[in-house]
Amino acid sequence: MKTVVVLNGPNLARLGSREPDIYGDMNLEALTSQLSKLGESLSLKLSFFQSDSESELMSEIHKATDAGQDVILNPAAFTHYSYALADACKAHTASGARLIEVHISNPHAREEFRHKSVISTSATGVIAGFGFDSYSLALRQLAS
Ligand code: DQA
Repeated sequence: MKTVVVLNGPNLARLGSREPDIYGDMNLEALTSQLSKLGESLSLKLSFFQSDSESELMSEIHKATDAGQDVILNPAAFTHYSYALADACKAHTASGARLIEVHISNPHAREEFRHKSVISTSATGVIAGFGFDSYSLALRQLAS
């Protein structure tokens, strides 16, 4: 069974209580369980990791690259300025494995600093603005 690595960046452990008007009232555990069920039905094994640390997220991307595993990444605020994370993503997609950048909200409809993603040019694709469904859509795409 293929493994898909689901990575969540800074402040996403706060889902449920963090700005529910933007991110909804479901927490990270609910997202994990919703995606796990979908993964099972798509015959995909999911591995989840959340960190507020850029270096820990980079390590997980490196591991996925070495294992040839596809990644769903919500880089959160790192989206807008982390060239280190972007380089790890670039090496990942250059290796032939896929990486889908996801966002719960639509950053383009928010503050100007969120309009720029330094990650997108290194991603296979980007899905934003569909709440937790952004992750489900990414998973379905990786399964297809
Ligand atoms: C986010 C959007 C980012 O701008 C923000 O910093 C986040 C979450 C999203 O999922 O909508 O933390 O990536």
